[in-house]
Amino acid sequence: MDKLIVHGGHKLSGSVNISGAKNASLPILAAALLTEEDVIIRRVPDVSDTNYMIQILSALGAEVERSSGTVRVNSANITHDAPYELVRKMRASICVMGPLLARLGKARVSLPGGCVIGDRPVDLHLKGLKAIGTEIDMEGGNMDMTTPNGLTGAEVDLRGKNGPTVLGTDNLMMAAVLAKGTTVIESAAAEPEVVDLANFLIGMGAKISGAGTSRITIEGVEKLHGTEHTIIPDRIEAGTFMVAGAMAAGEEGITLHRICKEHLVPVTEKLIEAGHQVQFNDAGTSVTVAPGKHPQGAKIITAPHPGFPTDMQAQFSSLFAVTKGISVIEDTIFPQRFMHCAEMSRMGANIKVDNGTAVIEGVEKLSAAPVMASDLRASAALVLSALTAEGSTEINRLYHIDRGYEHIDEKLLTLGARLERVRE
Ligand code: EPU
Repeated sequence: MDKLIVHGGHKLSGSVNISGAKNASLPILAAALLTEEDVIIRRVPDVSDTNYMIQILSALGAEVERSSGTVRVNSANITHDAPYELVRKMRASICVMGPLLARLGKARVSLPGGCVIGDRPVDLHLKGLKAIGTEIDMEGGNMDMTTPNGLTGAEVDLRGKNGPTVLGTDNLMMAAVLAKGTTVIESAAAEPEVVDLANFLIGMGAKISGAGTSRITIEGVEKLHGTEHTIIPDRIEAGTFMVAGAMAAGEEGITLHRICKEHLVPVTEKLIEAGHQVQFNDAGTSVTVAPGKHPQGAKIITAPHPGFPTDMQAQFSSLFAVTKGISVIEDTIFPQRFMHCAEMSRMGANIKVDNGTAVIEGVEKLSAAPVMASDLRASAALVLSALTAEGSTEINRLYHIDRGYEHIDEKLLTLGARLERVRE
């Protein structure tokens, strides 16, 4: 297990490129199972989650070639049985359900296990797939799915108790593209990653309208064909580096290239409200972020897109931990997603978490301590805290960050951070 030693207190400057979005790449790679023809996907980030997905596609029989950021998939000969050993490593593996059902009429996928960011059921995925004709048998931790009468379009409302579901919307959309008739998804997730998947499917010949709104309509077609697609920029990686700019950059700030301004609205608004400087180029493809002269706390409530993303709340906890005043962060999507706060408290942060809400009283400075990464975004929050802390922070269980941040240590070194990865 690698660890990262971050020597705090060095000002960041310069620029880095943001990678393609992990959370768009995962369902799009799975969607390559929908055609016998070659699919070429560009800007797939080199992170362990995309590697797991590629391993799952290979285990299902697809031929996959990866050359730097470009992945070519050919799924001419695939089977329906996703091996537990691979599926258990990543919850997003359940994205193969929809494509396998559409293509083969059957799928066997393990139930994903527990998850450190909270209860993550799959009831809405199953609700959607059942509504269009899937029969599901649970046995031995597996979901055995068949479509005795083929898939047939239907109207389905996918709203759960915490709002829409991103991967649940993806799964139903991927199953419905080859169903007979029309499927309407009400209360659909509107995240940019859902729109990217819809665009990819449209590129394969699917008929989809309304992606990016809460109502998606899918008219089934007979067959899909190969396509080429470029993944959208990772808005969470960009947001994480924007927070790094606000916390740790010098007066000139740091600049992030290959971003999409439109996807960064909630994060930008909160950084500005907290008193920091955020400047986009005219095209909205680069942004410079610098610390404000009079930073202040703020209140954040996470919400489905276009609200403030749950995947950014841990990073803002780091920012607010060293921002004068009281800040409040409420996570309505994953109310248990506050593991990073206990670790940050070990570095001197003053945070109280209760009932899905963190109340943070900013301190002057954090100080280094050995800390443990518990999940992807929690690890990012610890790295951000370590950049400004006094002394050298040791972040253990670094594999969490490698799941979703492409070459994060190299990017931070480019920006002038002092850190080293210790391989164990
Ligand atoms: N939910 C249900 N039933 C379901 C599915 C979800 O009740 O069948 C609930 C969840 O428990 C949660 C809410 O619905 O309270 C939203 O969860 P969602 O299904 O949207 O999450 P997801 O699709 O499994 C994706 C991202 C997550 C991100 C969430 C929310 C991917 C691969 N994962 O997960 O990203 O936090 O949407 O935006 O796209 C991350 O990148 O660090 C990450 C965890």
